[in-house]
Order: sequence, then structure tokens, then C-alpha cells
Amino acid sequence: MRTQVAIVGAGPAGLLLSELLQRHGVESIVVESRTREHVEARVRAGILEHSSVELLTEIGLDQNLRAHGQRHHGIYLQWPGSRIHLDFQQLIGRSVWLYGQTELTTDLGRARDAAGQQIIYQVSDTSVVDHHSDHPAVILTDADGTPRRIDAEVVVGCDGSFGPCRDAATDPTTRRYQRLLPYSWLGVLAQVAPSTDELIYSWHPRGFALHSMRSAAVSRLYLQVPNQTKIEDWSDDRIWSELATRLEAGEPGWTLHDGPILEKSVLPMHSFVMEPLRSGRLFLAGDAGHIVPPTGAKGLNLAIADVARLAPALATMIINDDHVAADAYSDQALQRVWRCTEFSVRMTQMLHIDDDRFRGRLQQAQLRWLASSTTAARELAQNYAGLPIGFTD
Ligand code: DHB
Repeated sequence: MRTQVAIVGAGPAGLLLSELLQRHGVESIVVESRTREHVEARVRAGILEHSSVELLTEIGLDQNLRAHGQRHHGIYLQWPGSRIHLDFQQLIGRSVWLYGQTELTTDLGRARDAAGQQIIYQVSDTSVVDHHSDHPAVILTDADGTPRRIDAEVVVGCDGSFGPCRDAATDPTTRRYQRLLPYSWLGVLAQVAPSTDELIYSWHPRGFALHSMRSAAVSRLYLQVPNQTKIEDWSDDRIWSELATRLEAGEPGWTLHDGPILEKSVLPMHSFVMEPLRSGRLFLAGDAGHIVPPTGAKGLNLAIADVARLAPALATMIINDDHVAADAYSDQALQRVWRCTEFSVRMTQMLHIDDDRFRGRLQQAQLRWLASSTTAARELAQNYAGLPIGFTD
């Protein structure tokens, strides 16, 4: 098989990249190790930044998002005895949308089907070869057990942190930056109407808690738990009781509604950045190149920003043999990645509890400062609701 761009990974980054490339007149083949049902069902975060929504609107992929997503003007931040609302719309004139990554991936998959995009699911033994030449290729075994080779002009790794592209793009000069955080999140999806109109980020001496949602009938909630927590140790009753303790402390009289838990899992938290996001003719986008801690839900938005920058750069490289934008991709994308990493780590450190009582006092001072200083609130709003897709500093 031959194509212009071979894309590894059919998550939101890979699918959106193939969509954008086509609009620039570049053809691609997407390969994915999982089944389509798995990719479309996995539960991920659900916040779209202002500029991610603008991009989806520009390319006409916002119908379902506007019909089924929810526009949120801000967030609640709380600690025992206090709940404050940060109104992003009022502070900076931008808002965010609650729309599950699961739904967005399904929308993108349908759009690719309508355009006749070739997506090969359930491939195995995938590797990238010859990316230091002008003729890179992806080698794999398809679902029938047939070995295949996809020759391309460029390969893009959109295959997340466990895919083969991150390692394939690692050269002797590659730098990896990482930080493991000393806590995890226990996340649940529950069949119950949200007890709040907008997200609640809660600081509590027993640990951070977050009340998010997916629809008028489905809530998404998270609890800070120690690393190595076993999900079997957390019965549904224990989860609801801990969520109630941590979330009800902010506003006396407010109660958390519970309901059947549809899915629960423990998510380790870490931060990772690979520099550069490229090795020869293999480029990385999204989680393949960087992971942010989940507080603030930046991961999906960063993946969208990466591919929005990469698609036109690859088009000029392939069609006009002009490599300037493709050569600038890694440095420019990394500026946005580090901006969002700094913000996500700061949000995480402001809200998560560890043994350090001094830090606990600093956290409370920081939260009160956000309540009293419009400048501080505006700074958070700008980072949370999102920077322009093409942000560089
Ligand atoms: C969600 C996840 C996040 O990490 C966050 O900061 C907000 C919302 C979510 O899954 O809805």
C-alpha cells in the first residue's frame, strides 16, 4: 500500500489529522491496534477549550457537540466552608464545552467514513521503518494475519503513550522529561443527574475531588487516591460516601446525589514531554509526544492543537516541497505543550493533598487569592478556557 501520510492511531488526534490533511489535499491511511468499538467506547475526559470548539466549527464538525454538549461559562472552586464561581465568560469572554472525548471520536469516525477514509483497525506488530530516509513506511500485520507495508512520505504517531511511535522516534539526542505524581485519580461514570450546573473542583483535607458530568443524566466524578490503589477496595458505597464527604464540605446544605456506577477505574497521574516531537520523517502528535496531569483536562485539547498545526505544515512539505513549517512544528507545538503542562501541574498542586502541612496552607492562600483577586482569576480562566490553537510564547 502507498499513501502520502501514514497515521498510526485512530483516536481523536489521528482521525482529526486525516480530516484536516484531506482538506489540504493530502491523502492518508490510518491504522489502529484496537477495534473501532473499543476506541469509541473508552472513557476519557470531556472538556473542550474555546479554540478546540472554534476549529471543529470551522470544519463543520460541531453539530453533535452543539446539540448534545453543554457550554459552561466557568467552574466552581471550593474548600471546606467556601465555594466560589469563576466566570470565564465574564473574566475573559471565552467559555468551554463539556463534550466527552468518546462522542468526539465517534463524530470524527463518521466524518471520515463519509469521506471514504481508509482506517485499518485491529492491526498488530506495528513498527515504523526508514523514517531517516525520504521513504518511511509502517509495517504491520492486519486482522486477517496478513503482513502489510504502507509506504508513505511522512508517518505521524498519534498512538498515545503505549503505541510504538514514541520509541521509534527516540534518537540519541531525544530528551524525555517526566514527573510521576504521588497520587492517582479514582474515576467513576454514574447514571445520575449531575448535582451541579458546572464543574466543582474541591480541595479537602481528605484529598481532592472533582464533580464533572457527561449529560443531563450521567455524572463523571473523581477522587484523589494513593498510588497503587486497588479498585476492588472501593465498593460503590465507599466511593459515594467519600465523594459526599469531600464535595459537600464546600457549601453547607448542598447535597451530592448518588446513583448506579457504570464504570470505575484508577488512573495514575504523570507528566511527560518528549523533545523533539519528531525523528526524521516520523512526527508525534497528542499523547504519543506528551502527557499532562489530568487536572484541567488539557490532554485532548493539546492533541487537537498539535494536529491543527501539523496538517498544513505537512501539506506544504508534501505538495510544495517547502519544509519550513514542518521543520518548525516541534519547537512551536512544544511551546504550547509546556504552557499547558505548567498550568496542569499548578492546578494539580493547588488542589491535591500530600503530607506537607506547609503546602496545605499555601494551597489555601492560593485558593483565597483566586477568590479575591480578579487578576489571579483571569489568569486561571485564560489558561483553563484555553489559549489560541496556534499559541507560541
Ligand atoms: C474532566 C476531567 C478533568 O481532568 C477535568 O479537569 C475536568 C473534567 C472530565 O472527565 O469530565
